[in-house]
Order: sequence, then structure tokens, then C-alpha cells
Amino acid sequence: METILLSAETADIEKAAAMIKNGELVGMPTETVYGLAANATDPKAVAGIFAAKGRPADNPLIVHIAELRKLSELAEDIPVLAYRLAEKFWPGPLTMILKKKPCIPDITSGGLDTVGIRMPAHPAALELIRKSGLSLAAPSGNVSGYPSPTKAEHMMRDMNGKISAVIDGGDCTVGVESTVISFENENTVRILRPGGVTREQLLEEAENVIIDPAILHELTEGQTVRSPGMKYQHYSPIAHVIMIEGSYEAFCLYVNENAGENIYALVFDGDEGGLAVPSVKYGCNGSEQAQNLFSCLRDMDEKAAKTVYVRAPEPEGVGLAVYNRLIRAAGFEVIQV
Ligand code: TXA
Ligand code: MG
Repeated sequence: METILLSAETADIEKAAAMIKNGELVGMPTETVYGLAANATDPKAVAGIFAAKGRPADNPLIVHIAELRKLSELAEDIPVLAYRLAEKFWPGPLTMILKKKPCIPDITSGGLDTVGIRMPAHPAALELIRKSGLSLAAPSGNVSGYPSPTKAEHMMRDMNGKISAVIDGGDCTVGVESTVISFENENTVRILRPGGVTREQLLEEAENVIIDPAILHELTEGQTVRSPGMKYQHYSPIAHVIMIEGSYEAFCLYVNENAGENIYALVFDGDEGGLAVPSVKYGCNGSEQAQNLFSCLRDMDEKAAKTVYVRAPEPEGVGLAVYNRLIRAAGFEVIQV
């Protein structure tokens, strides 16, 4: 199959919408990461998503909408708090897990009786959803396990030949996936995956915000998983990623002791000198690091890096999402220096 690269102009989005209506798969830019979109209510189209990504069948997909009224068509028993959060954070990087209605096929929800719903903020995504007249299931557009795509070229690298088209909507501005939450009760939400909407922001609407322990800690055997995605190795480049926690001086000492061929360092903007291996900078604060992280990890593979030592980000604000992705990319290999 030939994968066409489309622009984000209306005429091209109309082409992509026709493909979606025809049961085909399209790479869709969002403000978080690129998604691999198909008609959420067409089990055959959704099966195509799982096949193209090599995704485990029990890992549910997020359903994307462009109109708030769609929420009650797809989900039921919706807490009032969910509407308040939608009002405040949509369109934007927040996914809410709600009880699903029967129109959501089991394959889309990974066999669960809930569904994750989000309204993305990228104009091309909103236009694609509106022009197709459908709700779109869209996981991140990477091959399962690999870092998510934040540029059209990343989508092409992973999906060329497997899907009908990719819409080039430019670089993703958030750079990490949406915050996924579930509702414990009318006043309490639980963050299952940290993302662009922070705990602090959620606390402006919800009385309590629980950070699920699986966000920062490796699952122990037999532990219940509230979000299937937490079970799997994630965001990993081919290169071996090791996270290092400590000052830049201590980081340099440690990395230099382990210097060698194809060893790289991923450091903060402002970290200067002192390293005996080539380094790449991924930003100076949480939002910049979120924006650059996946692209930097992919670049490490382009450089054929064997091992990448990464300076651990501050797990605060959006930095919590960056920390969460990195610790998974590193398979929980964290060294304190
Ligand atoms: O920003 C994003 O969320 C991107 C863009 C494309 O919208 N999408 C994305 O989808 O990251 P994906 O499939 O790569 O990640 C969705 C995560 C998975 O970890 C999945 O297990 C969890 O959300 N999830 C989805 N539906 C769920 C449900 N009903 N219950 C619990 N977890 C769910
Ligand atoms: Mg993903």
C-alpha cells in the first residue's frame, strides 16, 4: 500500500475524511503526539489499527471527538465533574475514562466496559473529525513500544506502507500524550497517565487528585492495573536508555567513566562542557523537555546510539509526564549519583 503524505489544508483533510469513512487508517496530527486514526465504531477499521501498530488486543484506544455533545452519545453515568473538566480543558490534552455505551465496540475498548474520550486541540484533528462526521479511535501512531511520533516524518517512518495517509500538521506542541484520568467519586480523580494537563491544574476543579502508583513505580507481581497500557514496555528506542538522577557534575563523572563508542548523553539546556561523550539537549523546563523528548529518543536511533544516559527531569508539572515516559523508556533503570 502507498501511504500518501497530505497537507493540513482543507482539500487534503477532505481526502483524509473520505478515507476514514471508507474504513481506512490515517495518521492524524494532534497537539500531544500524532495519532493513528480510524472510525471508532467500525470494528474492522479498528482491527487495522491494532495490526498496523502490533498492539496487544487488551490495550484500549482513546476515542476522539470534536463536539461536547458527542460525549453523552459515547458514554453514560457521566459525573458532573467530568463536564466541568471538559469545559475547562477541552479541546486539549485530557482523556477521561467513562462507562461506555454499546455503540463502542469491544475491540475499541480492549474488552473493558469503559472508554477513554478526548477532544484534541489541533485544528487539523478537529477538522478531520468534523469532516468525517465520526468519532475517531486513535492511539499514538508509533509501532507498539517505540517512542510516540511528534512529527509527520516519525509517522511515515513507522507507518509507511501500512496506512492510507498521514496528514502533516507540523511538530506537536505538547510532545507527550494526554493526561488519562478516571473518576473515583464526584470529587476525586485518579491520574492513570500524566500528560499535558497537570495535577495542579486538575486540582483547580477536583477536590482530590490521586497519582496512581504505577506512574512512578514498576508494577509488582499480582498488582492490579487500572490502565492496561501500564503493563507494557513503552516509549523505548532501540538504544539502551539509562536515567541518571543527580547534579550535572555527578552526571558527567558517571557518564565519563562509562564513555565509549556510540555512547550518548541527553542533558538539559544550560548543561555545558565536562562530558567525554557527544550530548544532545532536550530543553530547560518541563514543557520544553516534553516537546523534545520523543524526537530526541528517535534521533538517538538515527545516530545508532548503543547507550543513552539521560539526565532525569524534575517530576513536577508537565515534568511528571516526561519523567514517567523516560522511566519506562529506561525499563525503570535509574541510577542515583
Ligand atoms: O495524547 C494522546 O492521548 C494520544 C493522541 C493521539 O490523542 N493518544 C494516545 O493513545 O496516547 P495511546 O493508545 O497510545 O494511549 C492510551 C492510553 C493507554 O495507556 C491505554 O491503556 C489507556 O490510555 N486507556 C485507554 N482507554 C482506557 C480505558 N478504558 N481504561 C483505562 N485505560 C485506558
Ligand atoms: Mg501510545
